[in-house]
Amino acid sequence: MQKVLVIGASRGIGLEFVRQYREAGAQVWATARGEQLTAVQALGATAWELDVADAASASSLSWRLDGLGLDVAIYCAGLIGPRSAGLEPPTQADFDAVMHVNVLGAMRLLPVMAEGLAPGGTLAVLSSVMASIGGRNSPSSWLYRASKAALNSVLKDAALVLQGRATCVALHPGWVRTAMGGEGAPLSVEESVAAQRRVLAGLRPEQSGSFFDEQGRVIPW
Ligand SMILES: NC(=O)c1ccc[n+]([C@@H]2O[C@H](COP(=O)([O-])OP(=O)(O)OC[C@H]3O[C@@H](n4cnc5c(N)ncnc54)[C@H](OP(=O)(O)O)[C@@H]3O)[C@@H](O)[C@H]2O)c1
Repeated sequence: MQKVLVIGASRGIGLEFVRQYREAGAQVWATARGEQLTAVQALGATAWELDVADAASASSLSWRLDGLGLDVAIYCAGLIGPRSAGLEPPTQADFDAVMHVNVLGAMRLLPVMAEGLAPGGTLAVLSSVMASIGGRNSPSSWLYRASKAALNSVLKDAALVLQGRATCVALHPGWVRTAMGGEGAPLSVEESVAAQRRVLAGLRPEQSGSFFDEQGRVIPW
């Protein structure tokens, strides 16, 4: 039976990962903040409370994962922050909130998630095509873009450290109809997650350290 961990599963793409992996018969552990745990539990997953922006909360994951032998661990938690159009400086509070969830949380949790993996397991972060510097043609939401570019850097370092032990990838889920993606997005969460699961299932170890969209196409860093 496949063993899967989803960080940030209260709603949106994270919750759909839980639903689809459970439907496929996987054993699933998932984290969410506070009262949102019930949504995860209702799908038959083991739910743990975890605020990725809180150091003490994040460190509580370590002993929980001890010996689990996960096949797949996914960091889904994310915050978009102010939807700027140009070079509007973010407030300190917005900067801290976005960077803490999208980058610092990942830097605290990826090492712990990696410890919980079975040999040859997969470690994935939900990045965004908006992180891409090579493919960029819009400056919108530049704080979010900067944070996801930093997340990509963190993922690449994880791939180097875990070489031969885990396959580490950054995934763009597509533009998806969630609270973050908005109602005008072309993909449903069901479609996005089904596609991402296919990408994850087809990964080869030599692809570790790559950045893919939901169709498995390489995105330039
Ligand atoms: N939707 C898109 O089109 C799109 C495109 C590219 C990339 N992405 C990425 O995909 C991931 C999932 O996005 P989504 O569309 O599902 O967004 P969403 O519906 O806004 O969900 C965001 C998730 O992140 C969690 N989260 C935020 N801050 C957290 C914290 N401090 N601790 C724990 N969890 C926290 C939220 O939990 P709460 O319910 O507790 O707030 C929620 O589960 C994100 O990383 C996002 O950047 C999405």
